[in-house]
Amino acid sequence: MTSPDTTASAALFERARGVTPGGVNSPVRAFNAVGGTPRFIRSAQGAWLTDVDGNEYVDLICSWGPMLLGHAHPEVQAAVTAAVARGTSYGAPTEPEVELAEEMVARSPVERIRFVSSGTEATMSAIRLARGFTGRDVVVKFAGCYHGHVDSLLASAGSGLATFAVPGTPGVPESSTALTLVLPYNDRSAVEKAFADHGDRIACLVTEAAPGNMGVVPPEPGFNAFLAETSSRHGALFVSDEVMTGFRASRQGQWGIDGAHEGWVPDLVTFGKVMGGGFPAAAFGGRSDVMSRLAPEGPVYQAGTLSGNPIATTAGLTTLRLATDDVYAHITAAGDTIKQAASEALSAAGVPHCIQATGTMFSVFFTEGPVRDFADASAQDVGSFAAFFHAMLDAGVHLPPSAYEAWFLSSAHDDRAVQTVIDALPGAARAAAAASEGER
Ligand SMILES: Cc1ncc(COP(=O)(O)O)c(C=O)c1O
Repeated sequence: MTSPDTTASAALFERARGVTPGGVNSPVRAFNAVGGTPRFIRSAQGAWLTDVDGNEYVDLICSWGPMLLGHAHPEVQAAVTAAVARGTSYGAPTEPEVELAEEMVARSPVERIRFVSSGTEATMSAIRLARGFTGRDVVVKFAGCYHGHVDSLLASAGSGLATFAVPGTPGVPESSTALTLVLPYNDRSAVEKAFADHGDRIACLVTEAAPGNMGVVPPEPGFNAFLAETSSRHGALFVSDEVMTGFRASRQGQWGIDGAHEGWVPDLVTFGKVMGGGFPAAAFGGRSDVMSRLAPEGPVYQAGTLSGNPIATTAGLTTLRLATDDVYAHITAAGDTIKQAASEALSAAGVPHCIQATGTMFSVFFTEGPVRDFADASAQDVGSFAAFFHAMLDAGVHLPPSAYEAWFLSSAHDDRAVQTVIDALPGAARAAAAASEGER
């Protein structure tokens, strides 16, 4: 297999590194986990990316989730173009904000909602609101769940179970994580111990509704219901982070998958990605009595210059209205075909792997699994994944450049795109096997 020409990407990467740390504006894009040169993208259409060298790739990143309908969807494009012609930001309320809020309230368990510009802002604001509402300080989170780069959530587990966390990165003061408890995911006894030890100080428990940031690790049956019940019993709020899963895992997000039959309702929910239709938009919402503590109705301060931006809300609203059951059925079917082909190719090459899914989201782990938590996910053979990733890329498939990520599809992933992935898999699986052999 000949590697595609990447001269223009390499030249841009060189220039970018001169002016931007690592040459990228979000670390995973730099290919550090897999090595090599990130592809600089010139344009995208449907399921396909075109890089600055003219190479085409089936896109399995989909902007890390938002592009549910594929790139440059004609109806989203038309709505956005019309909105741009009316002006791009006013700093005053608009009709699309109200319409998007109504659409999201109708589809999800939230009663009221507030728009922000990123998932990070959404979780940061939800935590502030939970603290303001309860008058308590402590936050519980799970190892391997990512909620954006909020200081108090960039935390690693302390020295023992249910002890307070230590900063996960330089730049976060110990005081910021001193009120955070980090627990293993899917571990009920750890949750029970944390609440037994600190229950009267816990403002909220925040969790990805179904983690996708350590690869896809579904909650075990009843786990979210257990979290909601335990939080409520101790007077803490249950914050369900649906930034990734919301309107992506299903039409309603993860809550629509296990909330309905398990009967749990979060106190607060965070959203992002799909609801912005590829523009910077996110939100947090929830119980009316909790949301009414927010300024200007209540005393908890929160604001944003571009919050509810008319272009972003128009893109989000158009996307959500087009996200019918057929869209999710199509993505599910395409995902099932790819999952099966990946499993067959990796099995044939003798590569230990496991494929996990929740709704339309799935990921391929380079370990036998099952993967229940971050410790299990960390057992992956990342060298083998890197070889697999590059072989896929050379064959025209752009996977997320890390073994710890979900593979994202869209309604634009048609037979040609899916077949390109299927054709690439056997060679990539053999490359993964060879890399694994080389490591021994
Ligand atoms: C579950 C979850 N929460 C929060 C965030 C942060 O969102 P953003 O990158 O928009 O700040 C992400 C981003 O990937 C996410 O997956």
